[in-house]
Amino acid sequence: MTGRLEGKVAVITGGGGAMGGAQARIFAAEGAAVCVADVNEEAAQSVAGEITEAAGRAIAAQLDVRQADRWAAIVSQTESAFGPVTHLCNNAGANFRVSFDEQTEEQWRTIMEIGLTGAFLGIKAVVPSMRRAGGGVILNMGSLAAIRPGGGSPAYAAQKMGMVGLTRSAAHSYAADNIRCVIISPGHVDTPFIRGNNPHSPNDWSTSIDNPDNMNRRLSATPLGRLQTADDIAKAFLFAATDEASMITGSMITVDGGAGM
Ligand SMILES: NC(=O)c1ccc[n+]([C@@H]2O[C@H](COP(=O)([O-])OP(=O)(O)OC[C@H]3O[C@@H](n4cnc5c(N)ncnc54)[C@H](O)[C@@H]3O)[C@@H](O)[C@H]2O)c1
Repeated sequence: MTGRLEGKVAVITGGGGAMGGAQARIFAAEGAAVCVADVNEEAAQSVAGEITEAAGRAIAAQLDVRQADRWAAIVSQTESAFGPVTHLCNNAGANFRVSFDEQTEEQWRTIMEIGLTGAFLGIKAVVPSMRRAGGGVILNMGSLAAIRPGGGSPAYAAQKMGMVGLTRSAAHSYAADNIRCVIISPGHVDTPFIRGNNPHSPNDWSTSIDNPDNMNRRLSATPLGRLQTADDIAKAFLFAATDEASMITGSMITVDGGAGM
């Protein structure tokens, strides 16, 4: 590692999860201090603990991204520990893999509130801190659903397409503050989001990639022939977070093995 994020301070939501955890580890290994924020406090603590054991700088925070007061508390806790926030990764998301007919209003609201409102609240919470830092980078988690949503879960389609608009709006609004905003869209990533049965992303045999039929469907939709790993995606987050990407804002970076073509 080459200290590409030395002196930077990152808040990473869904930081206890697979992709957020991979970002937290790689950002810390590149010199950033990280706040690992997750609704699952134990998971956040475990990732932060791994980082500090490896001589990195990290704190864990319990955060439900839907709560503006928790966002305010976490930004101020992070700023007290490490200085003004320079990076925000909005990973927290939810999905219920049912058809339009079957999707309930409650499922719609949960997906939209965690994925889209949560990211909006996060951006509003960190921007004053980023201004104090003299600039920053906001990285939003996209999806193939942000490119070609197709059928299935309508709220997931609306949430991820909405993330494109939120990214461009933030990029426009804060360019003059030296704050960039980028959306990164993975393809099929082998994580508990599509494998396990989590409260934010329930899977059973009919949807999980534990079922070889589902795994093969996703593999055959990926021209490069393998699912992505959380590390594949974290490397793109790292690139977008550094000055190597200093003229990239409002854009989407896809890391999907060609699945979105
Ligand atoms: N796995 C994939 O194939 C894939 C592909 C494209 C996009 N995504 C997106 O990636 C993100 C999920 O990441 P993952 O695949 O690492 O899954 P994951 O289940 O390992 O991680 C998700 C994390 O988000 C946390 N979370 C859920 N609700 C929250 C809330 N209200 N507040 C704060 N944290 C919350 C969970 O506790 C969990 O730790 C989602 O935005 C999802 O839409 C996943």
